[in-house]
Amino acid sequence: MAALAGAGLSAESGVPTFRGAGGLWRQYRPEDLATPEAFASDPRLVWEWYDWRRSLISKAGPNPGHFALAELEKRKQSFTLITQNVDGLEERAGCKDALRLHGDIWTLRCTACGRERKELKTPLGELPPHCSCGGIERPGVVWFGEPLPARVFAAAEKAAREAEVLLVVGTSAAVYPAAGLAWVAKAAGAKLIEINMEETALSLEADCALRGKSGEILPLLVT
Ligand code: OAD
Repeated sequence: MAALAGAGLSAESGVPTFRGAGGLWRQYRPEDLATPEAFASDPRLVWEWYDWRRSLISKAGPNPGHFALAELEKRKQSFTLITQNVDGLEERAGCKDALRLHGDIWTLRCTACGRERKELKTPLGELPPHCSCGGIERPGVVWFGEPLPARVFAAAEKAAREAEVLLVVGTSAAVYPAAGLAWVAKAAGAKLIEINMEETALSLEADCALRGKSGEILPLLVT
């Protein structure tokens, strides 16, 4: 069994999603804030946005959906959580092995020497932050136009191929290659169970579509 999670999983924690009503991409343009080009042209502006998101997430906590996934991981020997989220709320709920397709907002990576460090402080203070080598650090997330971390994606593909059931939770399934994992699972014979408040590009392919909040539906699956 595996789960592919998206921003909807954290919505009930008060973390905004990207698309739909109240979504971040309704308010901001991804090309201004979430591309390597945007960072090269204005690292401070990009960092201000990430610093704001880090502060917001630091005040949020995992919701019953995160705890239910952590419980599944604990109970089932072969359960893999694949997440597109960068907020780390899965770990705060107790998940140990989530595959982070889009990186981690709490990791900073030096653009000069490549060194990575965990930094939980919010707000960060001087922006952009600097590495001890003097280089500018960037958020340890995947931006549009960048490849996904190869090892993480390979592990996610394997989990999707081997899963008998894939829970597709709170994702619009609009961003590839992450969304493609549902098709990989389906092609390999998995049953797709979608948990989402709305219909998505995947709904017609799903064997079962559970309409509602993941924080309410997921706990029902583990009782
Ligand atoms: P989206 O914002 O595209 O989609 C969120 C989905 O969650 C929508 O389908 C909503 O209907 C659903 N939803 C909202 N609240 C929910 C709730 N309480 N319970 C269940 N479902 C709920 O987010 P993602 O699909 O995660 O990438 O977006 C994928 C990627 O696009 C993100 O990882 C990010 C973004 O640009 C990068 O930054 C690279």
